[in-house]
Amino acid sequence: MNILFATSEIHPVIKTGGLADVSGGLPNAYSRLDHQVRVVLPGYLAVWEKLTDVHKIAEFHTGTTFYDHPVVIKAARSSGIDVPLWIVDIPELFDRPGNPYLAADGSDWWDNGERFGVFSRIVAELAMDKHGIGWRADLVQANDWQTGLVPAFLAEESQPPTTIFTIHNMAYQGNFPNSLFNYLNLPWHWWSAEGGLEFHGQMSMLKAGIEKADWVTTVSPTYAKEITWPEFAYGLEGVMARKLGEGRLVGIINGIDQDVWNPATDRLIARTYSAEKGRVAAKAENKRALLNHFGWHESEIDPNIPVIGMVGRLVWQKGVDLVLDLIPHILEQENAIFVVLGSGDREHHDALQRLAIYYPRRVLVYLGYSEALAHLVEAGSDIFLMPSRFEPCGLNQIYSLMYGTPPIVHSTGGLADTVVNATVENLDNGTATGFVFYDPSLHALKSTLQHALYLFGKKRSWQKLQKQGMQQHFGWQDSAQQYLNLIQ
Ligand code: ADP
Ligand code: GLC
Repeated sequence: MNILFATSEIHPVIKTGGLADVSGGLPNAYSRLDHQVRVVLPGYLAVWEKLTDVHKIAEFHTGTTFYDHPVVIKAARSSGIDVPLWIVDIPELFDRPGNPYLAADGSDWWDNGERFGVFSRIVAELAMDKHGIGWRADLVQANDWQTGLVPAFLAEESQPPTTIFTIHNMAYQGNFPNSLFNYLNLPWHWWSAEGGLEFHGQMSMLKAGIEKADWVTTVSPTYAKEITWPEFAYGLEGVMARKLGEGRLVGIINGIDQDVWNPATDRLIARTYSAEKGRVAAKAENKRALLNHFGWHESEIDPNIPVIGMVGRLVWQKGVDLVLDLIPHILEQENAIFVVLGSGDREHHDALQRLAIYYPRRVLVYLGYSEALAHLVEAGSDIFLMPSRFEPCGLNQIYSLMYGTPPIVHSTGGLADTVVNATVENLDNGTATGFVFYDPSLHALKSTLQHALYLFGKKRSWQKLQKQGMQQHFGWQDSAQQYLNLIQ
């Protein structure tokens, strides 16, 4: 089968979050199941230096009344990605420095609606082989609002490929004013609330994907349920409940790319290790390296002081405010070290910096994006914090399981589906892998962390917990098969 995978980011070419990890893993897994896969993404300025074997395969104009951009489709390769990439090169829309979605001042690019609307239109044309490349898709998988119009354009065709629309985050809906609808010259009959993409007087690219795709998936079974509730669906709960009722909404848990996230082979950490033969002890060297990185001297490091790590976008979703409240409460009572790597909202940056000044050597903060440090935090911490208020899947908690760094998670979305709570019973029967709390409050988080710190002192139980997490299987093969089973 020919599979076209449309995405706005892909590891290791361009990444802002977990969508890039999924795009870097799932198409490879399809290809290992013997399918012919192409990944299509926009030609942002930053991608070119990461690509090899770049060559033109099609050239045309968008040719609509209101905008008429010259387009070149280039095929390319990237290390770590087994399948050909198709880059949609429209310099007027994508040839800009920095983040795929945001301008330098942190605001959305003013023309994001046009950028991703036009991109989606071209993806649909490529799927139908309208530009003479000689490859037609049987299945198109689109991801998040940036490619939400892809299933909509394809639904207009007489013999379209099957479409899957995958929701990675319901909180980003790609809502734009009605003027964009006209500007993009979209079919007038799409402008309806029921079955269309009109959403409270705006056009919603997320809703377009949901309404027009053959299958709607999201990245964990629990999140698939949650997004039929108002609290998690931001106005789209009715549409989601309908899709669930029709059997068209399915949750499939993400895998992880074990060529990238594997403590036994990871070249970004100080020393590789695995669960076998007590080699978790080598993990201690990564803890040293992590503390060294933040200026601790060898002689000062006490391996019995727990290091609590966190990596992620510093936004409300991730429960950063809970962690900001938690840190002083814990540090007034316990001997512990917090390490936070992330970037996001300015207020959270400022608050973390204040904590780092107030608790020098106890609160270690790196504000920014660092792939290498993300790996070292996973490997070098003893406990991983992920108190997200909602989390469609979450990858960091899975990485932390793999790296023998038991995670503390709020019971929501993919966190609930991937971590088994260290209750007395689960510890006894050997199923526990981390710590789960059920109410996103400071009190619940604090008492759960204190429970984890207590258990950290019981070395035998702790090692059992670490090992159990490290032995979980989160490869992409199973998830890829589940997507394919959907449409077969
Ligand atoms: P989300 O997609 O909501 O941001 P995920 O847990 O699914 O959350 O994936 C986040 C991905 O981005 C992980 O691979 C994580 O390591 C990475 N990441 C997030 N913030 C940073 C950062 N500041 N530096 C390096 N990697 C980061
Ligand atoms: C989104 C979600 C995250 C998920 C990722 C990949 O960014 O916030 O939970 O893991 O997409 O699917």
